Amino acid sequence: MVPDEVLAPPRAAPQFIDLLAETVDPRGELTAALLKACASIPPKYFYDRLGSRLFEAICELPEYPLTRTERAIVDAHVHEIAARIGPGGVLIDLGAGNCEKAERLFGWLAPTQYVAIDIAADFLRDRLNVLAERNPQHSILGIAQDFTQAIELPEEVARGSRVLFYPGSSIGNFAPEQAFSFLQRTREACGNDGHLLLGVDLVKDKRLLDLAYDDPLGVTAAFNLNVLRNVNALLGSDFDVGDWRHIAFFNEEQSRVEMHLEARRAVTVRWPGAERAFAAGGRIHTENSYKYTPERLRETLKRAGYKWVAMYTDDAAGFAVALAGA
Ligand SMILES: C[S@@+](CC[C@H](N)C(=O)[O-])C[C@H]1O[C@@H](n2cnc3c(N)ncnc32)[C@H](O)[C@@H]1O
Repeated sequence: MVPDEVLAPPRAAPQFIDLLAETVDPRGELTAALLKACASIPPKYFYDRLGSRLFEAICELPEYPLTRTERAIVDAHVHEIAARIGPGGVLIDLGAGNCEKAERLFGWLAPTQYVAIDIAADFLRDRLNVLAERNPQHSILGIAQDFTQAIELPEEVARGSRVLFYPGSSIGNFAPEQAFSFLQRTREACGNDGHLLLGVDLVKDKRLLDLAYDDPLGVTAAFNLNVLRNVNALLGSDFDVGDWRHIAFFNEEQSRVEMHLEARRAVTVRWPGAERAFAAGGRIHTENSYKYTPERLRETLKRAGYKWVAMYTDDAAGFAVALAGA
């Protein structure tokens, strides 16, 4: 006798649409960013497969309570959030990562379809296969897309009211005016009856923020340095990770944590068609992570065209989850 599970056909992988080739050309974008007077690398390039795993490790660090706090806030208010949103919409996860946060909402929101969007195509595909195994009753669609320019929702996205889910304080990677434009685009994507559920890190003690982005174990340093390996793969450059050190600090004036890579010695980096010399101590700016006050968050959402519904915070008011309506 052959057991049934051996005879059962393998479950079909969730539908996956790759729109990355239609968005930004990484080589052009990276070359322009690296050749600016103040060299930079956009933070979306952190997330190759290893970078995505390193981000998961960061979320486990005691010094980085953001993910745990956000989860606790949602758990404490999920009943009310679900009642305000209502069941049966299309749950659209922007920058889905490992999709764990959205999965926790499945039972509450009973979405007709879960749409996971992320620039990290390979990692997203892996995670959606596992998610589909665990949730065979759910319709799941993966979209590999860089949503910096536009949020493209192809016709495979089901009809129905939309819940845009943007957790993890990723909104903080945008400068204030870019954040406003991005929220305007999410507002358009919400249609006439949708919602936005947004997780945002709030301004807090500088010592806590410095430590959250420069942990003693060096996990965030590895995450920051790994961007150079991804850039080498995408651009054909010859960055040597050993030439660079991780720098992170809260810039109180700008209300943002900044991450940089600093050259340990004079180096010249070469890639097809270009090169860039860095003096010892020269820096590449890799990330801004803007921290909000509740007032600024509320004002930005309203200006972007949202109706304010509710904001939930932890007891220390270090993190906020905002629910806004279309
Ligand atoms: C800080 S992680 C958050 C992951 C997950 N949502 C969470 O809260 O744990 C940011 C996620 O957004 C994705 N991402 C970053 N920039 C993006 C872009 N421009 N377009 C699409 N996805 C992006 C990354 O690949 C990563 O999975």
